[in-house]
Amino acid sequence: MTFQVTPLNAIGADVAGFDIREPLDGDQQRELRDLWYRYGLLRFRGQDITPERQIAFSRIFGPLKMHPLKVQTSAEYPELFVLESGTDNDRHMLAYYDGKAVVGRLDWHMDLHYTGRPNHGAVLTAVEVPGEDGLTGFGDLAKAWDALDEATRAQLAKLEVAYCFSMQRRHMRYVNLKGYEPGPAMAKKPADLGYPDFADAVYPAVIKHPVSGCQVLQIVEQFLDRVITPQKFGLSNDESIELLERLVAHTRRPEFHYFHEWQPGDMVLWDNWRLMHCATGTPPGVRRVIHRTTIKGDRVLGRTLD
Ligand SMILES: [Fe+2]
Repeated sequence: MTFQVTPLNAIGADVAGFDIREPLDGDQQRELRDLWYRYGLLRFRGQDITPERQIAFSRIFGPLKMHPLKVQTSAEYPELFVLESGTDNDRHMLAYYDGKAVVGRLDWHMDLHYTGRPNHGAVLTAVEVPGEDGLTGFGDLAKAWDALDEATRAQLAKLEVAYCFSMQRRHMRYVNLKGYEPGPAMAKKPADLGYPDFADAVYPAVIKHPVSGCQVLQIVEQFLDRVITPQKFGLSNDESIELLERLVAHTRRPEFHYFHEWQPGDMVLWDNWRLMHCATGTPPGVRRVIHRTTIKGDRVLGRTLD
């Protein structure tokens, strides 16, 4: 085959010998899909990316989804979700961490996890890169599951966890709130940004990946709220909270992570049914533009408490 695949330090792989301008035959497309499932994350560098090429590349991995939050989609290409900072809009994404102003920082999450039907995956491409800031982090929850001890795995096999969508970071129960202050223009409720409100979503604490069959720990800190009826499984409420704290700390271990520092020509594809991701953010006024295309989640992995 034509691609040179090099595993990255902890998770994911770099793919060289790939040129987004060249058409791919069926075998090459199949190989890319296999690599995607094997590594969870593929990194491509030095690509001559256009919206049309990104959209065509993304379709190799499944039908694309238009984001339900119409606020940030591109008018010309409805498949493209534009992540932009360094504009007047910064004030809505501005918060303080230990007194430092940061725009667009995001905790570990999976896209659309709060709906019970997360996206299958996504492709990010660099349009304008901000130097050393604005990293995107990825965390492999299949590796995190594999690294758990037997007793914890046996316990988790019986449990379900609930996620509560919230606009306010300080209402999230398992993110690190130390030194955090919201900015003055942060949204207070979903309707402030034209978002719908979402019912709680409930997931088994471990999920079998619908395609690859690998076991994926379903613990992501953003919106994580509680274990469902812990007493039924021999856990007091306090013990269930301590369990979630321990699991969130486990997912934060660097051996499950890759932090992508953006360069022009970069493209990253990840499996959103397996990897969580986060954003480190940028100082106010720093330009950063990333284009995202989204591979539709055609399976319901969680249930909603409507
Ligand atoms: Fe995201």
